Amino acid sequence: MRYFTTPIFYPNDKPHIGHAYTIVITDILARLGKLCGDQTYMSTGLDEHGQKVAKAAAKSNLTPQEHVDAMSSHFTKLCNQLTAQPDIFIRTTSDQHQKVALDIWQQLEKAGMLYEGKYAGWYLPSEEAFCIEKAEGAVWLEETCVFFALSKLQDQLLELYEQNPDLISPQTARNEIINLIKGGLKDLCVTRKNTWGISIPNTEYTMYVWIDALTNYISAAPGPMYIQNAVHIMAKDILRFHAIYWPAILMSVNLPMPKKIISHGWWIQGGAKMSKSQGNVVDPIIWLQDFGSDGVRYFFARIKKLETDCEINYDEIVKLYNTELLGGVGNLGQRLMSMIYRLGSLPESTTDLIPNLQSDALLAYNEHDPHKYANAIYDAVVQLNKYLSDTEPWKSPNQANILADAFNGWKKLVFWMQPLLPAACAKWTKQIEQVFLEKTTGVICQLPRTVEVPK
Ligand code: MSP
Repeated sequence: MRYFTTPIFYPNDKPHIGHAYTIVITDILARLGKLCGDQTYMSTGLDEHGQKVAKAAAKSNLTPQEHVDAMSSHFTKLCNQLTAQPDIFIRTTSDQHQKVALDIWQQLEKAGMLYEGKYAGWYLPSEEAFCIEKAEGAVWLEETCVFFALSKLQDQLLELYEQNPDLISPQTARNEIINLIKGGLKDLCVTRKNTWGISIPNTEYTMYVWIDALTNYISAAPGPMYIQNAVHIMAKDILRFHAIYWPAILMSVNLPMPKKIISHGWWIQGGAKMSKSQGNVVDPIIWLQDFGSDGVRYFFARIKKLETDCEINYDEIVKLYNTELLGGVGNLGQRLMSMIYRLGSLPESTTDLIPNLQSDALLAYNEHDPHKYANAIYDAVVQLNKYLSDTEPWKSPNQANILADAFNGWKKLVFWMQPLLPAACAKWTKQIEQVFLEKTTGVICQLPRTVEVPK
């Protein structure tokens, strides 16, 4: 079993293509797991509290709750448009979540991990982070607050990562976290005053938004078994929250550690991380209109290695869409299915023209690598297209057997492509079923004029 999570996103603004990326790669892995026979569950959602969201609401002359209610539909709509199928869309303003967050808080208190003190230092609202040095946009903060005794867990955290060398991936991310821990962990301020957040009963405090947000991985889970099977996926800038604070919270309340913490690289624009505050974001809706969900999903998984940064480029998706989707897989399906329809019936075939696809897909799943999986799909498309070009069934006397073998390969390919191209595969699966229907009932099916890659 694997419980795949995306970060929960700040609804201070509409989603951009960076959010779409994490949703898609997580959805691909959750769907691929199901094909591999694993039980998977996927969560995503919104991180609705904190100064950043409150500020955005004030700018629109709305209450924070009105603002997040309005924003949430943009994110759920985006999931639908990406053909992503999260099992839950968790919102931190929901009763379900707030109850869990407060329960964890009480458990931290009981475990003696919380104490009152005074924070004096810098706070960066754009990242909702307390920082050691003054960063651009940081504000000086001096307030009484509740601290989480993170420093007590320094040795335990180090031990965790030394004993579980694969818990964080990639290895560079693991090294970075180990160095941060070795550099010394300070206790963490976990409350704010007068901010939009979950109120701590009988106090003047609200919960620090990161503590509130991280507990979504419990409130979104259908049961306790999920925590130890969690595969947390996020971009590298928020790795430390997931690889230091989150395990520290789990340890303090005696919950098991996640299975995997995966940090991915950024989509960048003009050399800088794409983000609303940089003003360099790409709107996913435009790409979805131009290339459909399959085009965008394919682009995300096929172009970028998980751990690296990649410049986002419209021309690149146009090229990929034309060469690999229309010219590669679309052309393969169209050529093959129109020849089969023309032929009318097919002999049996047990030949496997793409023998590596299943093991490659399984390997990619076990390595949680959507890029590797997309490459395996592309290799199989190339192999089947090459088979048709080499055997030239359109003029071969052995046409029926060649097409039967190719059809066998196509069926297998369509099955394994479903996580990547769910919309097209739904259409192709129907066509495949139609061929079977004809074979078993003798009913002649209509020759489709074109077999396109649906958007
Ligand atoms: N709310 C916190 C996360 C809390 S999780 C307990 C947050 N939200 S966010 O809206 O800033 O979203 C961050 C996530 O969006 C990143 O971790 C990543 O998954 C995705 N991305 C945002 N910008 C991105 C890029 N430019 N490139 C790739 N992914 C990007 O941080």
